[in-house]
Amino acid sequence: MTAHDPEAMRRPNAPMTTYRYDEYDAAFVSERVAEFREQVRRRLSGALTEEEFRPFRLMNGLYLQLHAYMLRVAIPYGTLTARQMRRLADIAEKWDKGYGHFTTRQNLQYNWPKLVDTPDILESLADVEMHAIQTSGNCIRNVTADHFAGVAPDEIEDPRPTAEFLRQWSSLHSEFSFLPRKFKIAVTGAAHDRAAILVHDIGLRIVKNDTGEIGYQVVVGGGLGRSPFIGKVVGDFVPREDLLAFLEAILRVYNRFGRRDNKYKARVKILVHEKGIDEIRAAVEAEFAAMDRSAFAHDSEEFERIAAFFAPPPYDSLPATSASLRAAKLESPAFANFADVNVGAHKMPGYAIVTVSLKPIGGVPGDATSDQMRVLADASERFGFGELRVSHEQNIILPHVKQDDLLTLWRMLDAAGLATANAGLVSDIISCPGLDYCSLATARSIPIAQAISKRFSDMSRQRRIGKLGVKISGCINACGHHHVGAIGILGLEKKGQESYQITLGGDPTFSASIGEILGPGVTAEQVPDVVEHLVDYYLAEREEGEAFIDTWRRIGHARFKDVLRREGEDGADI
Ligand code: HEM
Ligand code: SF4
Repeated sequence: MTAHDPEAMRRPNAPMTTYRYDEYDAAFVSERVAEFREQVRRRLSGALTEEEFRPFRLMNGLYLQLHAYMLRVAIPYGTLTARQMRRLADIAEKWDKGYGHFTTRQNLQYNWPKLVDTPDILESLADVEMHAIQTSGNCIRNVTADHFAGVAPDEIEDPRPTAEFLRQWSSLHSEFSFLPRKFKIAVTGAAHDRAAILVHDIGLRIVKNDTGEIGYQVVVGGGLGRSPFIGKVVGDFVPREDLLAFLEAILRVYNRFGRRDNKYKARVKILVHEKGIDEIRAAVEAEFAAMDRSAFAHDSEEFERIAAFFAPPPYDSLPATSASLRAAKLESPAFANFADVNVGAHKMPGYAIVTVSLKPIGGVPGDATSDQMRVLADASERFGFGELRVSHEQNIILPHVKQDDLLTLWRMLDAAGLATANAGLVSDIISCPGLDYCSLATARSIPIAQAISKRFSDMSRQRRIGKLGVKISGCINACGHHHVGAIGILGLEKKGQESYQITLGGDPTFSASIGEILGPGVTAEQVPDVVEHLVDYYLAEREEGEAFIDTWRRIGHARFKDVLRREGEDGADI
């Protein structure tokens, strides 16, 4: 990367809110588009079979699904500019079916692109400094981060400079382009984990040591999929100047010892599980000690150059609380609901973080239409320095909204069907595409999410229930994070029928746990009943201030199992 003044990269009237490509990045991405255009031409002419074409398309994020190709676009560390969001909207409208699907790894998926159009789509993305490289294959995937990065009051440091630093290190890393299996990294700099770092191949937590120096706690071997594991600490405090070398050492150990004989045992989580964390730590430390670290010497100038792109926007100096917000809440109960549920504290006085739910009652979790994407882009420009975030919960964040502007913003969102006040509540469901799209699916997941959401359509009931993560996957691959749902739902196939296995007690945060199976599978129709029974039991049992998971932890899994058994015996429809 060339050193340059980030100020020079600003466009008129567009505050800089994320990393900007330099000439090297831009030229590279354009060359990749031209290369792919030629590969697509050869496929369409029949010069390449689908099988021959497969590695080329996967290197560019293009999958083949049940009904069509699917293009997965990376949104590095979940940060988007208004211009990029608008472009995603335009692409969906011009070359897809007018919507996009935001995923749990800060990507956007187009479900219906035509092969012939994909080079144009990639060219259009390149024009706004986006691409689909390394969103597939056995390489280091899109590096994700806390979606409240840079604005959360509980943060030690914005994790995005680190994530961008790692993106540059991992992009086209020749030694790590053919790992035993895919590799996912997530970073958080906060006291509360919103990036699910413990269920990533590597999770990084920015920490301070006793002398106030910033470094990283490095966790390895977390993951979901068919064998879920919580990551284990491999480095307690890795100073920033050692970070790249330390990660390089982990990847080398994994690349060398990770199993290539069985793809189901190839993830680093299995290596950590089979060898034990002590042996892995020793191997990583030995590699770290032996390697020529001069090649990874920390370039603090480069880190600072990157960090400058994420400098705080020019906030106004405001009082900590807004009188107009208080008055607006009194006037409109619907707005008050939204402000209470979807609006979070900001590190700057007078500002707020707004979560825009992509989970309307009965909707498809994570989907946004082109029009909605444009409204979000407009809203971010009017009310938030033109910056947006994508959360792993499949929602959109407006990270810098003045409290005084919340009412106007809410009206704008409401008119676009984007004001569902359910962030973190029972209908804020994470769901993978399942059998409606995915060729690996064993059951549907979207209709299950829709049915649960409709069952709890009464928003005041949802608020009474409080925080509750329902997460649904359409097969054992666990793309919908069901293992870490307080209520997890896994769609399977049994004797030609869909069957749903329910798990309880999953948690993706620093107190991470994998859910425990509740009992035999149930049918699609029974799922909303089961969820409702569980919720009712929790409401009856909970103590002051307890979320669902707290009550489950306190009274234990067996009691929840019992209640379902009893309900079943009483002839309830479960
Ligand atoms: C539709 C095409 C998709 C295919 C073919 C696919 C395939 C897979 C496979 C095979 C795994 C298991 C990997 C392993 O354990 O080694 C996996 C995991 C995962 N996928 Fe997907 N996926 C798709 C879509 C999605 C979507 C839409 C999301 C987000 C909503 C997603 C997010 C994830 C996550 C979070 C995991 C688990 C984390 C981990 O890798 O341990 N995937 N995917
Ligand atoms: S969990 Fe299974 S069904 Fe769902 S997207 Fe992943 S691979 Fe497809």
